[in-house]
Amino acid sequence: MERLQKVIAESGITSRRKAEELILAGKVRVNGAIVNELGTKVSGQDIIEVDGAIIERDVAKKYYLLNKPRGVISSVSDDKKRPTVVDYIDTDVRIYPVGRLDYDTTGLIILTNDGELANLLTHPTNQVPKTYIAKIEGFLNKDEIDRLRSGVRIDGRKVLVDHFKIRDKNLEKKTSLVEVTIFEGRNHIVKKLFESLGHPVKRLSRIKIAFLEVGKLKSGEYRELTIKEVKKLYSLK
Ligand code: URA
Repeated sequence: MERLQKVIAESGITSRRKAEELILAGKVRVNGAIVNELGTKVSGQDIIEVDGAIIERDVAKKYYLLNKPRGVISSVSDDKKRPTVVDYIDTDVRIYPVGRLDYDTTGLIILTNDGELANLLTHPTNQVPKTYIAKIEGFLNKDEIDRLRSGVRIDGRKVLVDHFKIRDKNLEKKTSLVEVTIFEGRNHIVKKLFESLGHPVKRLSRIKIAFLEVGKLKSGEYRELTIKEVKKLYSLK
């Protein structure tokens, strides 16, 4: 017997957290009856419906690493018919992005149908480092760098900076290229971080998620993660 939300997440249709929301919203049925309690346990024989559709059990887990181009949305579908990260992956299984990158941000994003891993990587208690390169307006002075390193408060919460360095400065254009490693996944967090220091981000790219690097992946290219890499991601918990 396993918890209902775990079984739903493992079927690949959504994350465990979203599955919990669906259960609480009364959108989940077990053997035809609505179940809206999170503690419910189910067996392999139980038929589970989410939003009227029966979920498939024991779907093979797939893991992809995409180098997202600019102008692509980090979701499964878009009402405005803009290209999504899922459009880039040639697969038969229903996958979704782990966390998100802004429409105009490029770089690494993981896509999977493994709700368990998606949950682990996005949960704030698991400190998964993510490295970004940002082109920012102007030049950071010593005081601003110190503030950045000691943790700038954004929307009431400090952003922990694991690593920061200035890669380059363009004196003519008055821009800097900086590299920053943070643990969080809050929306627009890197842009907010530099904006709060008075240096708006003009371009942003994620070059690393934990130990996964862009490597040979060109913009729009992807690869499957190896079993070893998946195990290593699980060990970040
Ligand atoms: N921080 C941002 O501001 N944007 C992203 O896409 C990712 C992190």
